[in-house]
Amino acid sequence: MKILVTGAGGLLGRALVAHLERGCPVIGLDRSALDISSKAAVREALGLHQPDILINAAAFTDVDGAETQPDAARKANTIGPGILAEQTCTAGSRLLTVSTDYVFDGNKEGPYDENDIPSPLSVYGHTKLAGEEEVRHLNPKHFIVRTAWLYDSPGKCFAQTALELAGGNREVRIAGDQRGSPTFVPHLAEAIGRLILSDDFGTHHIAGSGGASRFEFVRELYCRLGIETPVAEAQAREFPSAAARPANSELATAWQDAPGLPPWREGVAEFARRKLAAENEPSS
Ligand SMILES: NC(=O)c1ccc[n+]([C@@H]2O[C@H](COP(=O)([O-])OP(=O)(O)OC[C@H]3O[C@@H](n4cnc5c(N)ncnc54)[C@H](OP(=O)(O)O)[C@@H]3O)[C@@H](O)[C@H]2O)c1
Repeated sequence: MKILVTGAGGLLGRALVAHLERGCPVIGLDRSALDISSKAAVREALGLHQPDILINAAAFTDVDGAETQPDAARKANTIGPGILAEQTCTAGSRLLTVSTDYVFDGNKEGPYDENDIPSPLSVYGHTKLAGEEEVRHLNPKHFIVRTAWLYDSPGKCFAQTALELAGGNREVRIAGDQRGSPTFVPHLAEAIGRLILSDDFGTHHIAGSGGASRFEFVRELYCRLGIETPVAEAQAREFPSAAARPANSELATAWQDAPGLPPWREGVAEFARRKLAAENEPSS
């Protein structure tokens, strides 16, 4: 199987290329090599590389920035996936595109599965949901993978922000009333690798299992890394942001044979193990 990964310069794109190229030929194209909102560029890349499957990890992911730059968010999150779906269908390739827990409004008690009705709160969520709809309409051989709260090292993510806060030698305050599914990116890359071997087309929720508040996540992260900075439970309204975020966006799956992920705490443990190992590596 030959795989083309778009958005290969991002947090998930990098991990996907690193994981998938152990098993088959993978071409990773970052934004400078392929802008997914250019139909001509997408057509050319598909003609050149002829992948069996295109995995789209490209997106406009600045959730607050999308509120003031809706056109840029729409270009990457809606128009781009639509072009990829149309062009992969014409080329006879499968398409996997990545979406988000932020398609939900957070009003449900308990985790969201694939049968729950999306109702985004933010421009980011609206543009991602519209991108899903493009893909559903334009390439029947699609996988839509909704995931959540991604973290890896190195990488710009909530875990990284929490580690920077710990450096300040003051108590760190983290919202306890925002709940989601922390997802260790290499675990997600492995699960996507398993999903694309199947014919289980459609929408899948793939995220760290269990569910945690941001406060619980940071407390676990510090504990695993031996960070002694105290963490206090705060309320989300203490941290005003441009975009509204769901209070609960924990994801679960209704698929029986879903490529499930380990409990989120195992993701944090693995993140910490790799980070400590990298820090202890002798510099050459
Ligand atoms: N991060 C999370 O917590 C999270 C949670 C749920 C779902 N997701 C979804 O997971 C996927 C991967 O996210 P991520 O965290 O890896 O995001 P990321 O680190 O921001 O990576 C996205 C990449 O897409 C690139 N890009 C933006 N517009 C593009 C375009 N028009 N053509 C080609 N590339 C473009 C970006 O390049 P530039 O940096 O140059 O703009 C960036 O390298 C996205 O679909 C996102 O919506 C993420």
